[in-house]
Amino acid sequence: MVKICCIGAGYVGGPTMAVIALKCPEIEVAVVDISVPRINAWNSDQLPIFEPGLDEVVKQCRGKNLFFSTDVEKHVSEADIVFVSVNTPTKTCGLGAGKAADLTYWESAARMIADVSKSSKIVVEKSTVPVKTAEAIEKILTHNSKGISFQILSNPEFLAEGTAIINLLNPDRVLIGGRETLKGKEAIQMLEDVYAHWVPKDRIICTNLWSAELSKLAANAFLAQRISSVNAMSALCEATGADITQVSYAVGKDARIGPKFLNASVGFGGSCFQKDILNLVYICECNGLPVVANYWKQVIKLNDYQKTRFVNQVVSSMFNTVADKKITVLGFAFKKDTGDTRESPAIDVCKGLLGDKAQLSIYDPQVSEDQIKRDLSMSKFDWDHPAHLQPPSPIAIEKVRVVRDAYEATKDAHALCILTEWEEFRTLDYKRIYENMQKPAFVFDGRNIVNVKRLRKIGFIVYSIGKPLDAWHHGKPE
Ligand code: UDX
Ligand code: ADP
Repeated sequence: MVKICCIGAGYVGGPTMAVIALKCPEIEVAVVDISVPRINAWNSDQLPIFEPGLDEVVKQCRGKNLFFSTDVEKHVSEADIVFVSVNTPTKTCGLGAGKAADLTYWESAARMIADVSKSSKIVVEKSTVPVKTAEAIEKILTHNSKGISFQILSNPEFLAEGTAIINLLNPDRVLIGGRETLKGKEAIQMLEDVYAHWVPKDRIICTNLWSAELSKLAANAFLAQRISSVNAMSALCEATGADITQVSYAVGKDARIGPKFLNASVGFGGSCFQKDILNLVYICECNGLPVVANYWKQVIKLNDYQKTRFVNQVVSSMFNTVADKKITVLGFAFKKDTGDTRESPAIDVCKGLLGDKAQLSIYDPQVSEDQIKRDLSMSKFDWDHPAHLQPPSPIAIEKVRVVRDAYEATKDAHALCILTEWEEFRTLDYKRIYENMQKPAFVFDGRNIVNVKRLRKIGFIVYSIGKPLDAWHHGKPE
């Protein structure tokens, strides 16, 4: 029986292994993590991550051929294939600070694999890593191997949160990179056989190691670039009276461009886009390509600009001051259908509003109060370290209240900001909300989900990203 072990029971490792277990009943899959609470949660009815469809998959396999454990060494030593899906934070000090990936957790995982292994293994990079990580890992493993043979593969994950299970069950492609030696090819074949249980052969792409690693960074950079492009247009739309929804639709109808990923927003978030682009920028700089590095850097700059622009719009519309005004924030997750807040644009927007002394009342259907306060008190890049290395409890934030209901959140508010596109925010009773708010009542829609005309008819002053401004907002400085 083939045994698989995945180190890191996070957003990538958990769902990916659950689907492998579901589709390969004859393979035993163990997901291991150093975090005891995380593993306990995977073994309970309250999984540590919210992901549509995940509960059902886990329930079907857990205890049969899917196991969650903190006994990292035992499961690694028994496995034929070891996936590594541990944190890869951005460095905050030293060489490459603010850009390069910190491979501390990766390196310690690799050293542990070498230490406990008594038989040959295939080691698969799953978490986002900068190009050439495999080479470093290969060196650590072979120099510590005690004669055991290790083959390194890169098998980047393309799942998007909120649709992870659908993406895993029906991937656009599975990418496997490996060495072009006989042993390397055998390892690629072994992993290909796992995916071939449910993925059509023509969707499994085999490449060399570096191409696989770079393809992941390139795919995310292209996706993020689309959003920054449409967000750049949204600023121009507001300035000229065009409507970004109409522009996106017209542009996306060109078959060469396509309609997906053209929604203007308050900015992209998530654990991958910014980190991957920073990695890309760093690699370009290290390879003497400053012009290419600057090109990709602009995607992040534009994203930061979009968040700042949003905060400025709120403050300038409300007579240039939000000090002690109650501002409701609807949505804190980085996108709908996930409880994940990593790099969520809501964090920067809330920090910006707090900087102007606003009182915030925050509601998100999936994000806990603890997480929101943690995010608002954390420094940039600190989120990407294992939970046990983070402060045990968040500091209280004086001007932030987290509530469990949108109506309570908006009561007596001066303004509401929609920062995540949760479906339930589309169908709120905005008339009721308007009646319970201070006047003039403002809506700032950072996701273009409200019906602007209808809300204006109710009496709201509405700003919606990239939409023609109403008379109130016209001529306001950025
Ligand atoms: C991304 C990639 O899509 C996935 O392939 C990779 O494996 C991990 O990174 P994820 O971060 O989970 O996935 O979510 P994604 O759907 O890509 O959204 C990222 C951000 O872009 C979100 O904040 C989302 O709200 C924003 N977005 C997306 C827009 O602002 N507009 C769009 O049109 C699409
Ligand atoms: P991703 O989105 O890539 O899945 P997460 O942060 O959700 O990232 O998950 C990474 C997981 O890896 C965390 O649960 C963390 O505790 C775990 N981890 C980090 N280092 C190690 C290690 N050396 N051994 C086992 N687990 C680890």
